[in-house]
Amino acid sequence: MSRISSQKYWISLLLAIYPAFYFASFAALRENLCNMANTFLIYGANGYTGELITRFAVERGMTPILAGRNAIAVEELAKKHHLEYRVFSLDETDRLDAALQEVDMVLHCAGPFSITSRLMVEACLRNKKHYTDITGEIAVFEACAAMDKKAKEAGIMVMPGVGFDVVPSDCLARHLKDRLPTATNLSLAFYGMGRLSHGTQATMTMNVGKGGAIRKDGKITGVPAAWKTREIDFGEVTKTGVTIPWGDVATAFYSTGIPNIEVFTVVPPSNLKMMKAARYLGWLLAMGPIQGYLQKKIPAGGPNDAERAKGKTLMWGEASDLNGNRVESRLQGPEGYTMTAIAALNIAEKILAGNLKPGYQTPAKAYGADLVMEIEGTARQDVT
Ligand SMILES: NC(=O)c1ccc[n+]([C@@H]2O[C@H](COP(=O)([O-])OP(=O)(O)OC[C@H]3O[C@@H](n4cnc5c(N)ncnc54)[C@H](OP(=O)(O)O)[C@@H]3O)[C@@H](O)[C@H]2O)c1
Repeated sequence: MSRISSQKYWISLLLAIYPAFYFASFAALRENLCNMANTFLIYGANGYTGELITRFAVERGMTPILAGRNAIAVEELAKKHHLEYRVFSLDETDRLDAALQEVDMVLHCAGPFSITSRLMVEACLRNKKHYTDITGEIAVFEACAAMDKKAKEAGIMVMPGVGFDVVPSDCLARHLKDRLPTATNLSLAFYGMGRLSHGTQATMTMNVGKGGAIRKDGKITGVPAAWKTREIDFGEVTKTGVTIPWGDVATAFYSTGIPNIEVFTVVPPSNLKMMKAARYLGWLLAMGPIQGYLQKKIPAGGPNDAERAKGKTLMWGEASDLNGNRVESRLQGPEGYTMTAIAALNIAEKILAGNLKPGYQTPAKAYGADLVMEIEGTARQDVT
């Protein structure tokens, strides 16, 4: 073959195969971009809430990597949903770091978070990956808030509480603050969570001896269990609410700057008596062997699909200021675990799309009061 015809041969060969290369590399790029836009780790994926979130994520077309310490359960779940999985406990630092290197953010679902959160937050700081979790524990929110500077330096967002506790109540708090910018006092209440999951009961049982908490003059302040009760008009029903140490005691302060915060929930009268008794017997219930016994008695799982479909949540909030001004609003939404899964994934999608603020953030501080309105089936009314 002459030099010229050899050149022609190579040029025509290149022209023939170029489109194939072009489309192949375009397809690879597109696949990479799709993966990049969906790369997050669900740790504790085999728990009740982790499984629910995994299922909802797959229904949205997201492809999280599943993780946890129980190899059999995590593998089984991953195979069911055709997802990748990693198995490690939180003190296996090398494996934890390697898993984080593959993703953009973590949705941490392994609670009680007062036991599990610190190691995961530290790993996220080390690996410069965004941290979210579904905690409702005041101590965990405060520990994360104390990491604000480090998170900003690492360029990551640390947002605990992306579930039912605290997305809807945090958004309601922010909404009330927007309505009354001079507010100095905030009361929030919720009703109708339905059946509680294993992890929620385990976390509540673990904290049973610790009493209540409110925020007073900007400081988290201990109060006796079931410290205050008040009648709360949720709109469709009026119920007696009782103070509990709910996550908003920590978070609503960061979202609104309001220095005095109380959170109420509705419990059956028999539970109210038990809560009051815990003021005197809490120390006993907190003892190791009794805790062990109580924890073992908690049934696995949580509400099934039919129970969740029937359930709903009612919320109420009131803000007032020193001049006697007062605003009141209500919110209704889906059942608590359904709301947790949707809220957590809505936030994950925002983070993966680059819509985030580095540092410690609360849901409403980062995304505003209307974040909750993105959850289908949610409605809000201003009462006064
Ligand atoms: N914010 C909210 O509104 C909201 C909503 C739902 C749940 N939650 C909270 O989320 C947590 C999970 O609830 P759940 O009902 O899904 O719990 P669950 O069914 O008991 O599952 C707990 C999960 O966490 C893992 N885990 C527990 N301790 C761990 C540890 N020390 N190291 C590593 N993994 C650990 C478990 O792994 P193993 O299987 O290996 O034990 C399991 O995967 C609870 O703290 C609950 O209060 C909050």
